[in-house]
Amino acid sequence: MPPIKTKKHNPSLDIALLTKLLDSPNTFISGSQLALELGISRVSVWGHLDALRNQGFDFEAVRNRGYTLKKLPKKLNPTLIQAYLNLLSCSTPLIFEEELDSTQNEAERQLALSAKTPFVVIARKMTAGRGRLGRKWTAPDNGNLYSSFAFKPNLPPARMQHFSLWIALNICDLLNTQYSFPVRLKWPNDLHLEGKKMSGFLAEARIDADHTRDLVLGIGLNINADITKFPLDLQPKVTSLYQYIGKKLDINSITAKFINTVTQSYNEFINTPIKDKFNELWNKYDLLTGKTIDAFQNNKKLTGTAKGIDSNGNLLLELSDKSIMALHSAEVSLSQPS
Ligand code: BTN
Repeated sequence: MPPIKTKKHNPSLDIALLTKLLDSPNTFISGSQLALELGISRVSVWGHLDALRNQGFDFEAVRNRGYTLKKLPKKLNPTLIQAYLNLLSCSTPLIFEEELDSTQNEAERQLALSAKTPFVVIARKMTAGRGRLGRKWTAPDNGNLYSSFAFKPNLPPARMQHFSLWIALNICDLLNTQYSFPVRLKWPNDLHLEGKKMSGFLAEARIDADHTRDLVLGIGLNINADITKFPLDLQPKVTSLYQYIGKKLDINSITAKFINTVTQSYNEFINTPIKDKFNELWNKYDLLTGKTIDAFQNNKKLTGTAKGIDSNGNLLLELSDKSIMALHSAEVSLSQPS
C-alpha cells in the first residue's frame, strides 16, 4: 500500500489566517473566503484553526456566517506578535524562544551566523539575563518582556549614546501617547513610572576603529508582572504597567507596537535629521533636568543639579561651585532631602 501523504503544517499560514481575523474584529469571515484568500482548502483552514486553538486562541464558528476571534492567549505568543506586526506593516524578523541564557547572547550568536539586521530576539524567560554595569537581570516567566535588537548602524561610536536615548524617548512617547502611561526617562536609559523603574536598557556594541560594526540593544519592559512577587529589596524601586493600572494588558499587542516603534526610530535615526524631534521628546519626557541629583561614578558620589545633556548624550551636572561636569556613565538618583 502506498504511504498516506500528510501535508506538513505551515506555521506562516497560522499567522496569515490570524492576521485576517484580527483585521476584522467582531466580524464573521466564511471558511470559503478564508480558504480563497489564503490559497488553501477549507479543510486546511480547519487544520490551522485547530493549531491556533492549541496555542490558546478560540473562535466563534456560526453556520453560514463563518469564524470570528473570541479569545487570545494571555502569554507572549510569537504567532500573535507576528500577526500584529503584519497589521502594522512591520517586517522586522522576530526570533522567539521559550527560554534563553540571555537575549543579548542569542542576538550575538545570530550576528555571528550573519543573520540579516535589524532583527529582534524575545524570550519568555532568561537564565543569565544581564543588566548595566555588570549586574544580573533577573528574568523569570512573569509577564514581562525581555528583548534584544540587533543593528549594523555603521555610525561613529560617539553617536551611540544618543542612539539609546533616542530609542528610549520614542518608547516613552509610545507609552504616553497610545496608552496614557506617564512614563519618564531617567538618564541614561531607565524608564520610570511614578518614580519607580519599569524598563532598563543595555547597549552592547562591537566597535571598529571609527564605526560601530554591530550593536545589540537589550530592553527589558515590565508589562504584566506582579511586583509583590519580586524580591523584597526590589519592590520599593520597581513597577510594571499592570502594577500601575491594576489590570493586565495585551502583552502581544504592546510588544508588536514596541518592535514597530524601535524599528521606525532606528530608521529615522539613520536616515533623517532627528535633532528637533529629539529635543522636543527630551523636553517632554526627561525626568532630571533642574533637579538635585546624586551621581555615583567610580564609587564616588557627586551631588549637583542636572542641566540636560551635551551633544554626545553625556549628562551635564552643575556642581556647588557652579562648574559643569559631563558624565558619560554613572548611576543617578534624585537626591533625598536630608
Ligand atoms: C539595566 O537597567 O541594568 C539594563 C537591563 C537590561 C535588561 C535587558 S532584558 C533583555 C536583554 N537581555 C539581557 O540579558 N538584558 C537585556
